[in-house]
Amino acid sequence: MSGGKTAIARANIALIKYWGKAPGNENLTAVPSLSLTLAALSTRTHVRFDPALDADRVQLGGALAEGRPRARVVSLLDALRARAGRTERAEVVSENDFPTASGLASSASGFAALALAASAALGLELSPAELSSQARAASASAARSVFGGYVELLAGARAAEPVAPPDFLDVAMVIALTTLGPKAIGSTEGMRHTEVTSPYYRAWVASAPSLFAEARRALLARDLETLGASMEQSTLMMHASMLAARPALVYLRDSTLRVMERVRALRSRGIAAFFTMDAGPHVKVLVERAAVSIVAAELGDVPGVERVLVSEPGAGAELVGDSPEA
Ligand code: DP6
Repeated sequence: MSGGKTAIARANIALIKYWGKAPGNENLTAVPSLSLTLAALSTRTHVRFDPALDADRVQLGGALAEGRPRARVVSLLDALRARAGRTERAEVVSENDFPTASGLASSASGFAALALAASAALGLELSPAELSSQARAASASAARSVFGGYVELLAGARAAEPVAPPDFLDVAMVIALTTLGPKAIGSTEGMRHTEVTSPYYRAWVASAPSLFAEARRALLARDLETLGASMEQSTLMMHASMLAARPALVYLRDSTLRVMERVRALRSRGIAAFFTMDAGPHVKVLVERAAVSIVAAELGDVPGVERVLVSEPGAGAELVGDSPEA
């Protein structure tokens, strides 16, 4: 096991959502997004290039990957090999420290960790912007996980950029994991389906820039109320565009709606808490730090909530040494 590199990257949750691709096939985004990187949800990935291997060997969460998950990894490895002028195949071992079967997105942290570990193992010294661009080509939300704290990915941009450090606001994220339904349609396919069939998709793309600008201004002014209001509107507009697709893309479940109601009830008691949902039924709640334990307890009480995770804002992707072990 010589020459391998290990990287850690954390998941990020979009406060202002990316949903939709720019024309072309470079995986550029149609709308700007703004995210928060989370300390508690991380992926650790080890990559080793070996001339003795005749194919890339990709192990994700203890199982050998095949089909599309493997192909997405190989395509990122191919891009980096081409850049380094190398041809050796790789062994990739990747583990999440959060429940993968929970339906929490792992592609953002996974591709950010892979881009960093693989480029380092090839001896490439990529800038954070170049790493972010490589990760974005694999999965656009992964561009944001290269950086810590609050991060933006502008529409059509090749790389994400940091906006504010992790401790910029006194907040944490409380995640309510709700009962999972049948396997949901993945983001890539879901956003294509929305673009092609939903009459609301154009309205979503047209209004995304001003919502993003409002959220970015509110963040930099440390105005949590306005940031929270634009965050909730962004997720609900994204889900409205999905609901108007044909057939409808319905990721929200009864438990999701109950958690949203509870968050609104907490707000009416003066607690700063704001929800967002991705391509799944779970609810991620941005909460003022002083209220984290009360919000976590309240959400844990909502029928249909199976588990509550709490995360601080987190750092960007980093190399952590050369051992494949955790
Ligand atoms: C709802 O980044 O997973 O989480 O670029 O096709 O890999 P691809 O999509 P992906 O989409 C994430 C969508 C989202 C919102 C967000 O993270 O901004």
